[in-house]
Amino acid sequence: MMTIKTADFVCSSVKAAQCPPTQLPEYAFIGRSNVGKSSLINRLTGRNRLAKTSSTPGKTQLINHFLINNAWHLVDLPGYGYAKAPKTSRRQFAGIISEYINHREQLTLLFVLLDCRLEPQAIDLAFINQLGDAGVPFALVFTKADKLSADKLQRRIAHYKEVCAETWDELPPVFVTSAETGAGRDALLAYIETINNQKPSSLR
Ligand code: GTP
Ligand code: MG
Repeated sequence: MMTIKTADFVCSSVKAAQCPPTQLPEYAFIGRSNVGKSSLINRLTGRNRLAKTSSTPGKTQLINHFLINNAWHLVDLPGYGYAKAPKTSRRQFAGIISEYINHREQLTLLFVLLDCRLEPQAIDLAFINQLGDAGVPFALVFTKADKLSADKLQRRIAHYKEVCAETWDELPPVFVTSAETGAGRDALLAYIETINNQKPSSLR
């Protein structure tokens, strides 16, 4: 099991060219505003205030790099699809996100976070389809699992998989997590460790 020995904030960037100029593998968290990206990064690292969280959507506004065990980066991205954000800032976030995804070569895998309480949302499905078309490796991460009973959670995830299966031949890896209870933490870290241990040629 992977131990997090160090987790340090490196920098905030607005574009890929400003991100740390290392070749370390990088795992980014993306998803709708308020889905729990920053909270999950804090839970994974065991550092409560590493990434800034807020009950108000739109908290994370830049590409934030965190160096883990001096060996790989976790990246906290702005959320997409916050309807109440001014159009200009929504467009800016979308620009920051797509520029990062399309140009950051060190990006090894994108974790797409989904609120387990919600029906599959058009904006998430569209985003995931774009990733598939662009050949960006990703995994699905359901968040806030503590908000549902075990039974309801099972049904929600099964339903989500069914909806995905209508469009895709292959289901990406799926994780079920809670930043509140720490559920799914070990599985996510183990998955990252597995990829880190693969040959660098597996980078795109
Ligand atoms: P933006 O940076 O605005 O895009 O949001 P984000 O996706 O980083 O969400 P953030 O981590 O800031 O969390 C948003 C809200 O959801 C906060 O009030 C968190 O406390 C809450 N939250 C996040 N994860 C969980 C979880 O697993 N369980 C519960 N119950 N609440 C959570
Ligand atoms: Mg955030």
